[in-house]
Formats: sequence, C-alpha cells, structure tokens
Amino acid sequence: MKENEANMVFFCGRNNPALGNKIAGYLGISQGKARISEFPDGELIIKLEENIRGRDVFIMQPTSSPANDNLMELLIYIDCARRASAERITAVIPYFGYARQDRKDEGRTPITAKLCANLLATAGADRVLVMDLHANQIQGFFDIPVDNLGAEPVLRAYFASKEFKDLVLVSPDVGNIKRARRFAEHLEGKMAIIDKRRISGTEIINQNLIGTVKGKTVLMIDDIIATGGTTSESAKLCKEHGAKKIYVGATHGVFCGPAVQRLQEAPIDEIVITDTVPLKDKVAKSLDNLVVMSVANLMGEAIRRIHNNDSVSSLFNSTMNFELPFIGKDKNNS
Ligand code: R5P
Repeated sequence: MKENEANMVFFCGRNNPALGNKIAGYLGISQGKARISEFPDGELIIKLEENIRGRDVFIMQPTSSPANDNLMELLIYIDCARRASAERITAVIPYFGYARQDRKDEGRTPITAKLCANLLATAGADRVLVMDLHANQIQGFFDIPVDNLGAEPVLRAYFASKEFKDLVLVSPDVGNIKRARRFAEHLEGKMAIIDKRRISGTEIINQNLIGTVKGKTVLMIDDIIATGGTTSESAKLCKEHGAKKIYVGATHGVFCGPAVQRLQEAPIDEIVITDTVPLKDKVAKSLDNLVVMSVANLMGEAIRRIHNNDSVSSLFNSTMNFELPFIGKDKNNS
C-alpha cells in the first residue's frame, strides 16, 4: 500500500465478493472488516470492525438481483459509515439497478432511478462511482458528484484482439447508437442500427435493420442483457440479413427470466460481458459461448484516482492492462 492510500478504506457488500476481492487486490489493500448479520425477522445489522473516523471510505455493492436486498444493504452500510464519522463516503455501484425506470412512460408510475439517487444521498453518500448507467442523464438525478465509468476500454480490448477485418457495429436500439459508434471508431467498423420496439418488460419486436450486414462480422453492443429479448431477436434479424458471424458485447450480464434459453437458441458466436453483476452458476454452465471480462482494474484505478483527486475521465480511453478473459465462468467465483 502506498502512503497516500493509507487513509483509504474499501468495504465490499455481499453481492459481488469476487469483484470486491479483485478491486482490493488492484489497490493493494485489505478489505475493510465488517460483520453483517440478520435479525430473526430478516432485518440487517452491520457492524464495522475497524475505526474509520476521518477516513476516505469506499463501499462497493452492485444493486442487481435481489435488487431490494442489495440496495438496502448498501444504504445501511453507508449509514453505518456516516455515523462512524467517515471523512467522505463513496458508493461504488458497478451495476446501478432500478435505472431503467428513469422517466414516467405512463401516468401513475414511479421514477425509481431518481428514488435510488435520493436514497443514496440521504443515507450519507458524498459521491457515487457507477459503471455504464443505463442512461447518462441519470447523473443529473444526483446532487452529489457522480463518476460514470464506461466498460468500453475492457470490452474494446477484447474485441480489438480479434482483429476483425469486416466488422459492422450494430446498435440494437436507438439508446445504444452513441456507444456503438464509439466502438465503430475504435475498431474501424461500419455501423448498422436496429429499429426496436418494446412491447412489454420481456418482449420486443424488431422492425427494421438500417445498414448492411450481409457477409460481415457483426458486433452488437448493449449496456444490459436482461431477459435476452433484445440480444436474441437482434441476432436473429442480423442472421436473416446475411451476417457471417455474430458477437455481442454488453457491460451488465443480468440474465433473468427466459434469458438463458433465448440466448442458447440465438445465432450468436460469442457473448462478452463484464463482472459488474455476479454470474449465476446456472448461467455460466448453460452458455458455452460466454466470455466474462473483469472491470476490477478499471474500477480500482478509478477509486485510486478519486482518493488522490486525480482525473477519472482520462480513464475512458484507457489502454491500461486488463485481465485476460475467462471463458464460461469466473473460476474464482465457482
Ligand atoms: C434497453 O434500452 C437496453 O439497452 C437493453 O437493450 C435492454 O435493457 C435489454 O433488456 P432485455 O435483455 O430484457 O431485452
């Protein structure tokens, strides 16, 4: 540990300990000690087992499924650190759940992304470090500083190593156009866009493919794979339009509901995700074409820079050394 990192404490919630261990490893520090236990009625109590008075505290927890439990654990952790007189508290949220309800699509519905932002600040977070927020404008829901890190350097490093010569970057919906364009610029590919219409939380209809994929290698870029509807339907559409090979790159592998079956049946050569969300064993075992890249070094470096008041935005185009991918599942997690 370097001298200027001595004042830093990094705690990891229970949702993604494998990522927490890797981040702590990158930082060269031991994780902060805490005891989490449940009362008989299921309520949580967290006891920090070291003095954090006046220290720069980072608390990591992705708020993926079970979203309510993981969010509540993070809020309790933050409250605990605030009452223990931390100098500054940064909530490190590799996957920010509830983000897709970021506006009222119809009357009498909530805006849960804003609610979560309010809860984090009220609990005592002084700043937030997130990765690939579903929509960039969610940053504006917070009145505290937000660093929205992108997993792009990690995914790009993997796809760049493939040295594709005939690449078309496909955005599976309008929301991902900018992301796909950045990949197209870096990987020197062409662009195509799918005109997607969501008809329910699990069903989508793809109406058109704008651009040409015939005889090409397709790389489809998304922020989240949840029920797999977007990914599988888009892959089928690309195949129907003559794509030669189909790769998918997404930051958050949420894999819920019918995702596994849909992805098994889709014409996809490789699905590359990151470890922001812990990979369920069942998913890892069922998807032979799954590659998981770790964002630990990237997140660890962002934490180090926040602590030292260095620039975080310069990490967006970073070519720092990322871990090699592991195929199928995270062996450290099994
Ligand atoms: C949509 O706006 C997102 O970028 C993803 O395409 C979507 O959330 C994926 O969800 P699913 O896998 O359920 O289609």
